[in-house]
Amino acid sequence: MKPRLLDLYCCAGGAARGYAEAGFEVIGVDIEPRPRYPYRFVQADALEYLGIFDRSRFAASFDAVHASPPCQDKCALTVGTNRSRGWGGEHVDLVGPTRKALDRLGLPYVIEQPNGKAPVRKDITLCGELFGLGVIRHRNFELGGWTMPRPAHRAHRGRVRGWRHGVYHDGPYVAAYGAGGGKASVAEMQQAMGIDWTDVREELTEAIPPAFTRYIGGQLMAHLMAAAVAQ
Ligand SMILES: C[S@@+](CC[C@H](N)C(=O)[O-])C[C@H]1O[C@@H](n2cnc3c(N)ncnc32)[C@H](O)[C@@H]1O
Repeated sequence: MKPRLLDLYCCAGGAARGYAEAGFEVIGVDIEPRPRYPYRFVQADALEYLGIFDRSRFAASFDAVHASPPCQDKCALTVGTNRSRGWGGEHVDLVGPTRKALDRLGLPYVIEQPNGKAPVRKDITLCGELFGLGVIRHRNFELGGWTMPRPAHRAHRGRVRGWRHGVYHDGPYVAAYGAGGGKASVAEMQQAMGIDWTDVREELTEAIPPAFTRYIGGQLMAHLMAAAVAQ
């Protein structure tokens, strides 16, 4: 039987695909309908969903958890946008309550956030260049109840293509967020991140490249196997 990973705030499953490729059976939870999510899916508020479990029932249902709480008010790329639209001030931060719920339930977990003001411990930071991708997409991962070696950051091969402050830059990476200003088309985002099962722009701009979680998932799998042998 494959170990089961609960994928909270799953969107269309960029993270999910990497964990599945690392050998996990993945079950996703998102508050929005996500018909393109490629694995078992539950439409629910993530915190309400966690609230139905006690430790023993949770351990009987899952082996590990990944969570990507939305970060619209904390993300360096969208703080300006939020302010210009009058958002941000009253936006609820879901990282703290998610961590608290996962600590209560006791399984090994991963919480992911982009660079910015998000309050996660940066146990691991991944960059697309480590996997030869066409995006940089720095992402931070807090590891709860387990650990893995920190990979070294690889120097970028060049710039992210697009307009910044009135100047056009070419480069080997595309910007897989927002729109306009030379940012990636849907097809370019799919290609650059290795995601071919959704062509919804919003889902692509939210996604983690599967290569990131394939890498973490391999280490998480090794941790679970070592823990099972030690029991
Ligand atoms: C950053 S995206 C996750 C991206 C995903 N990990 C991937 O790699 O494709 C955040 C997701 O959280 C969902 N979301 C927002 N609030 C939520 C809540 N309270 N409960 C569950 N999902 C929620 C959004 O609909 C969105 O799909």
